[in-house]
Amino acid sequence: MIKIALIGFGTVGRGFAKALIYNRNIIQRKIGEFRVTAICDSKSSITGDFKIEDAIKYKLDKGRLPENRNAEDIIELGDFDVLVETTPTDVFSGEPGLSYIKKALTTGRDVITSNKGPLVVAYRELMTLAERHGAKIGFEATVGGAMPVVKMIRDELAGNRIRRIRGILNGTTNYILSRMEKEKAPYPQILSEAQELGIAEADPGYDVEGIDAGAKLVILANSVFGKDVKFDDVEVRGITRITPEAFEIAVEKGYTIRLIAEADEDGKLEVSPRLVKLTNPLAIYGTLNAVLIETDLAGEIFVIGRGAGERETASALISDLVDFYGNCSFH
Ligand SMILES: NC(=O)c1ccc[n+]([C@@H]2O[C@H](COP(=O)([O-])OP(=O)(O)OC[C@H]3O[C@@H](n4cnc5c(N)ncnc54)[C@H](OP(=O)(O)O)[C@@H]3O)[C@@H](O)[C@H]2O)c1
Repeated sequence: MIKIALIGFGTVGRGFAKALIYNRNIIQRKIGEFRVTAICDSKSSITGDFKIEDAIKYKLDKGRLPENRNAEDIIELGDFDVLVETTPTDVFSGEPGLSYIKKALTTGRDVITSNKGPLVVAYRELMTLAERHGAKIGFEATVGGAMPVVKMIRDELAGNRIRRIRGILNGTTNYILSRMEKEKAPYPQILSEAQELGIAEADPGYDVEGIDAGAKLVILANSVFGKDVKFDDVEVRGITRITPEAFEIAVEKGYTIRLIAEADEDGKLEVSPRLVKLTNPLAIYGTLNAVLIETDLAGEIFVIGRGAGERETASALISDLVDFYGNCSFH
């Protein structure tokens, strides 16, 4: 029986919990019996013998959970094999997730996270801590949502030298740029429409300044190229200064403009708006994410998919769960 503790019960945390209900049979076939033994948000919790559906209903009805234990208490209680950590991202401090993850790893518990912050701030430290305590840390959900990237490179391309990764790692900016291209409209107008639609946050800085894409690039560079880079090592430029005129000229010449994140084996680390040929697979539209991986043996591999959303992120979290405890044979 695998025991799961869930910290963070917002969009992603609840999405994960719902997916455990919907796909229980599929997951159980792969990892055997599992149970969620604790859930907490920023101020409340539920522990012991409870149904996941009741916890979701309680949270939606009351905006909290029935008990007063906090995340530290849950980790201290230790009634879990794996901590699924889905608290908000802070790429500068890594908190609050960083402390939770360290604490769980130190007690030998495995960790799965959707939170970029801790990995951006302390990737090497966390990997070393996990190794020292015989624990595992999974972070597929931090890069590209449902799009399989981290484990695909680790497993399916295991025999390759990875030369370069280029990609669109932020759906919000891709949506804004797609619409600027099609409608020849100015950035502020499309941004405010994206905010009305819930595609861009009220405070869009992390997305439009390229910080979110830069954070994901740090995680890829550290995991794929074995680097020890931090957010400050990434050259980051966002999309706020792109004009409709720039798009007009680009399109006339057969190009579009996309926010491209690029890391290579020589240490290049850059997020910036770039001209992309309209025929290039990276000239994607809407909120999609995509990654082009250049390898020595397999050549170019292109992955495209949904980079965010509760179900999509749940897909990535569960893939780590099955990676840790499952057998992924076909049937
Ligand atoms: N949304 C996506 O599509 C997506 C995709 C990939 C990755 N991510 C990442 O996944 C994480 C969660 O995103 P989200 O969209 O689910 O965020 P969210 O809806 O804001 O939920 C965050 C949850 O964390 C809880 N929390 C906040 N501070 C906490 C603390 N100090 N201790 C314990 N719990 C705390 C919040 O509690 P309350 O409920 O009490 O406020 C809330 O339940 C973020 O790091 C995000 O970058 C999100």
